[in-house]
Amino acid sequence: MKYIVATARAPFSHDRVEGKDVVRQNVGGVASSLRRLMRDREGTWVCWGDGTSDTNYQEEAVEGYRISRVILSSNEKRGFYDDFSNGTLWPLFHYFREKIKTEDRAFEPYVTVNRKFAERISRYADKDTVIWVHDYQLSLVPGMIRKMLPDSFIVMTWHIPWVAGEFFSILPQAKHILESLTSSNMITFHTDIFVRNFLETQEQILGSAGSIRNKVLAIPLGIDDKYYGAWNLSETRRKSYPKRKTIFSIDRLDYTKGLKNRVLAVEYMLSRHSDLKGKFNYVMLVTPSRTTVSDYIAMKRELEMNIGRVNGRFGDLEWTPIVYMYRKVSDNILKNHYRFSDIAFITPLIDGLNLVAKEFAAASEDGILILSKFAGASADLRSAILVNPYDIKEMAESLYGALSMSPEERRSRLADMKAVVRRKNTSWWLSRIEKEISKRWPGGTNKSKPNYN
Ligand code: G6P
Repeated sequence: MKYIVATARAPFSHDRVEGKDVVRQNVGGVASSLRRLMRDREGTWVCWGDGTSDTNYQEEAVEGYRISRVILSSNEKRGFYDDFSNGTLWPLFHYFREKIKTEDRAFEPYVTVNRKFAERISRYADKDTVIWVHDYQLSLVPGMIRKMLPDSFIVMTWHIPWVAGEFFSILPQAKHILESLTSSNMITFHTDIFVRNFLETQEQILGSAGSIRNKVLAIPLGIDDKYYGAWNLSETRRKSYPKRKTIFSIDRLDYTKGLKNRVLAVEYMLSRHSDLKGKFNYVMLVTPSRTTVSDYIAMKRELEMNIGRVNGRFGDLEWTPIVYMYRKVSDNILKNHYRFSDIAFITPLIDGLNLVAKEFAAASEDGILILSKFAGASADLRSAILVNPYDIKEMAESLYGALSMSPEERRSRLADMKAVVRRKNTSWWLSRIEKEISKRWPGGTNKSKPNYN
């Protein structure tokens, strides 16, 4: 079986830095899993060439497969990425009604860019190829391909939540997008809830969901458990880690992540438990994201004001309760935090999955995971402390309880979670998807079956 994978983000980009072309690797969980698939299979990865010198690398052979980059003009980028993908679809699929921009003008560049992707895909597709399209940025691609190549086998994987049908109907282009998605042969989400919402949406907007029921599946993405579980860091790093208890989080700066509510929970806890002063640090790592989208610019200021208030209210010369860092970090530093933090505090208001939670479970030595019950990963990580991210008091109490949890309870919860992330890892995810493809497309069944290890 050969693949054409299509994602908005590229596995590798090229940037011009000080007169030289430098390769930037996408280290996100989806990109890493798909790279593994593509290394084992022949094929082409169609993506947006977002690097400053990607025009020179529109087609490139890497790791045994081909990358084909779609180049966008700055107007196309603004309309497709900033306005429609992240100004309309992203807030829509995360229930942020007041942020959804419904002006029609952004839809046109979105259609144009989706068409560029579909045309590029059709250039490489033949009868043995599975076309695997990913996420909300490319929602119209399945419908366009279906028209260009009626017999193709198309898989759509939706990585963000799917909302209730009534909410989805806010979108003026709802029917158009739904028709495109349902023209895929298989659609996967990360949880049963999103599958149910999708089927209910189909029933409301296009009539009965009966005809598509058996092609919509929940197959949650896993992580490379061995990579995160491998501890080759020196023990001296442990010694350099803060002596105080450490609460840790890492998120893209995004209003869906519930960052402000976490700061409020820490404030609430400190205002009720003065004995905790000086006893912990909350290491809050935030990575820059979508910095050209207006809602993202505004929320940075609000978050930083809240952090400043809490530190100003409780901190002193010896102690800063919230250690806030706004930057990207290397994987080794991240693994170090995962490994040695006492608590991971991962409380998005809603999230399609949240791989950070799974990575922490795989890497942690002895830690506790406090996880939002609205993160897709909570369906798998039942032994985390599950909280409602809108309930500041409950989050504060869970944090307080976690700071004094018995070692037995800590160990048993972590062991349960480690077992799940080990079993449902990246290889499991890829194998499940391939198995489902083979069931539905016997003509395309594999001759050789790599196990993606
Ligand atoms: C989410 C989406 C991805 C997206 C990622 C990073 O995880 O599901 O499709 O690529 O965020 O966002 P960005 O806008 O930087 O691609």
